Amino acid sequence: MAQPPANLPRHIAITMDGNGRWAAARGVLRAAGHKAGLKPVRMCIEECAQLRIGALTLFAFSSENWGRPPEEVGSLMSLFLEALDSEIAELHAKGVRMRFIGERRTLPVRLQSRIAAAEARTAGNTALNLQVAVSYGGRWDIVQAAQALARECASGALRAEEISEARFAAALSLAGLPDPDLHIRTGGEHRISNFLLWQLAYAELYFTPRLWPDFALADLHEALGFFASRERRFGRRPAAASA
Ligand code: FPP
Repeated sequence: MAQPPANLPRHIAITMDGNGRWAAARGVLRAAGHKAGLKPVRMCIEECAQLRIGALTLFAFSSENWGRPPEEVGSLMSLFLEALDSEIAELHAKGVRMRFIGERRTLPVRLQSRIAAAEARTAGNTALNLQVAVSYGGRWDIVQAAQALARECASGALRAEEISEARFAAALSLAGLPDPDLHIRTGGEHRISNFLLWQLAYAELYFTPRLWPDFALADLHEALGFFASRERRFGRRPAAASA
């Protein structure tokens, strides 16, 4: 099995795609595919904490996913609720700080209160920053940041000229965390699909055909190997050629 390389990302973002196809291939309900997706979620959390990767952000439900049939949306909301109840004690014991990003007021009230409780309980933990994106869209994130800054300007607390990239980033959902430097998408599509549009500006993009429920430790290590092999220039010239 591939070993994790020395040069690790500080923040990994994952688009967990392929649960539906995994379920269809087995002739089971899509809900069973989503449930099977919990295993790689646990594996990624454990390995990121173990490797001291610092931050992991998982795309669990997009703003656009509300357009799925009500029974699938309902099964996903139930799964998030059940997963929170069953996993929170262990996550807390592992030192995971859990936060949710997204338009929370659109979520069932019971889920909102469990989310608030999980965030409060794990707020002091430092082993891994885990962000779960639920009812999240990158465009929504940018718009809500713009609205927050506009309110500050309207109140006179901020001048428009004071809005810098850093100030803008501080109004986004992942404020205070380094931008993800590796984005992994399973399921074979090569798209960002309205995930962290601002924050992925310089991320290395890793795509794998593996369906999310099948994503295993060796696959995560392969993605880390890909990351370690990249020369990250952030728009500048290669180090050797820059003299
Ligand atoms: C996309 O696959 C996946 C989702 C919409 C749900 C992801 C949710 C989980 C993995 C559940 C556990 C997560 C947490 C953090 C509790 P798809 O349904 O679009 O698959 P398809 O492209 O094959 O149809």
